[in-house]
Amino acid sequence: MVKDYIETIDLEKSFGGLQAIDKFTLRVKKGEIFGLLGPNAAGKTTLIKILCSLLMPTGGAAYVLGKRVPDRHIAPLIGYMPQELALYTNVSVHENVEFYGAIFGLSKDQILKRERELLRLIDLEAHTKAIVHNLSGGMQRRVSLACALLHEPPLLFLDEPTVGVDPQLRMSFWDYFEGLKDGGTTILITTHYMDEARRCDRVGFMHAGKLIAEGSPHELLDLTHTDSLEDAFLILSREERG
Ligand SMILES: Nc1ncnc2c1ncn2[C@@H]1O[C@H](COP(=O)(O)OP(=O)(O)O)[C@@H](O)[C@H]1O
Ligand SMILES: [Mg+2]
Repeated sequence: MVKDYIETIDLEKSFGGLQAIDKFTLRVKKGEIFGLLGPNAAGKTTLIKILCSLLMPTGGAAYVLGKRVPDRHIAPLIGYMPQELALYTNVSVHENVEFYGAIFGLSKDQILKRERELLRLIDLEAHTKAIVHNLSGGMQRRVSLACALLHEPPLLFLDEPTVGVDPQLRMSFWDYFEGLKDGGTTILITTHYMDEARRCDRVGFMHAGKLIAEGSPHELLDLTHTDSLEDAFLILSREERG
C-alpha cells in the first residue's frame, strides 16, 4: 500500500533559462487536502502538469501513487482540472460530460448518474443542454470541475477550481471536497483565496519555483506569529529573499 500519494524529490523544470520548478521536495499523504499557494508564475501549474504526466521534469524525481512520472498508466487513477479550460465549447454540457465519461470507461448509466450528482454540485442542473460557449466563464469552469470528478478518482489535481465562482458556491465546493476527503480521496489544490487555504490539512507556499514553507495552516500562523495566512506568506517570502 502506497502511503505517499505524491512525492517529489529535488524536482526541477526549466524552460530554457527559466527555472520554473527549483529543487522542489514535497510529500502528500493519502487522504490529505494539500493546498498550494503562491503568486502568479510561482510554478504551481507547471508542478501539477508534471504530476499529471503532461510535462517532463528536467531534474530530480516525482512519484504519483507510487509510480515515477511521467507514466501514462496513471491517467485513469487521477482527476485533473486544468487552469485553462479543457472543454469542447461548441457542444453541450451533457456532451462534454459524456465525452469525459467515455474516456474514463464509464457506462451510459454511470455517466447519467454522475452527471445528475455533479451538475447538482455545480448548480447547473438546468443547463445540461446549454452549449458551453454560451455559458459564463465561471460556469464553464464549474463544468470543467464536474468533468474532472466524473470517474471518482482517488487522487485529484485541481488548478484554481474556484476562480470566478461566487462565494456561496465556493463554500459548497469545499464542503464537497471535504466529503471526498472523508471518503479517502487525496486532493492537491491551488487557490488564491485564504479562506480556502484555511480549510486545507496542509498548505505549501511556493515562490519562484521553490517550496518556501509548508505545514498545517495553524503551524504556519504559529511560525510567523500572525493570524492571517496572507501575512504568513509575505513574512516567509521576505525571509526567503533575505
Ligand atoms: N511552456 C512554457 N514555456 C516557457 N515558460 C513557461 C511554460 N510554462 C510555464 N512557463 C513559465 O514558468 C513559470 C511558472 O509558470 P506556472 O507554472 O504557470 O506558474 P503559476 O501556475 O504558479 O502561475 C512562469 O514564469 C511561466 O511563464
Ligand atoms: Mg497556474
